[in-house]
Amino acid sequence: MNSRPGFDGILKELVQIISTHRDDERDETLERICGLLKNEVPHYNWVGFYLVDPDAKRELVLGPYVGAPTDHTRIPFGKGICGQAAATETAFIVQDITLETNYLSCSPDVRSEIVVPILKGDRVVGELDIDSHALAPFTDGDQAFLDAVCARVAPLL
Ligand code: SME
Repeated sequence: MNSRPGFDGILKELVQIISTHRDDERDETLERICGLLKNEVPHYNWVGFYLVDPDAKRELVLGPYVGAPTDHTRIPFGKGICGQAAATETAFIVQDITLETNYLSCSPDVRSEIVVPILKGDRVVGELDIDSHALAPFTDGDQAFLDAVCARVAPLL
């Protein structure tokens, strides 16, 4: 029997987490959200936030994440999948990372990646980055779900 809550159920848990959020605990809330996504979706193996550095506006800084440590703690706009998603302010799905030349490798286990920008008005303030060890796992359902997640997270940033 599959006892996982599915995307709608996860969104309900997310709303619950955000409803108890306090501004002085932003990082803790973001890390709980990463943990929720990683624990509930089997093909999400690394889940993290990158935040736009307010002092160096065209640069992303690694925020809370759950998964293996990464060397990529600062990423300029345009560089890698994360930097491209930030520069275009558009979700970027790479179903097979061996086919993407502008890619920053984190772990040899990663086979695919989805990055969804977090927008406040027309301004990108961060993004949600998910690595998967599966090949081509991401569906339109993932994208719609992660768009909804990012819309809920935006007010926290
Ligand atoms: N692979 C990303 C770098 C960040 S890690 O996945 C955590 C990229 O190409 O931008």
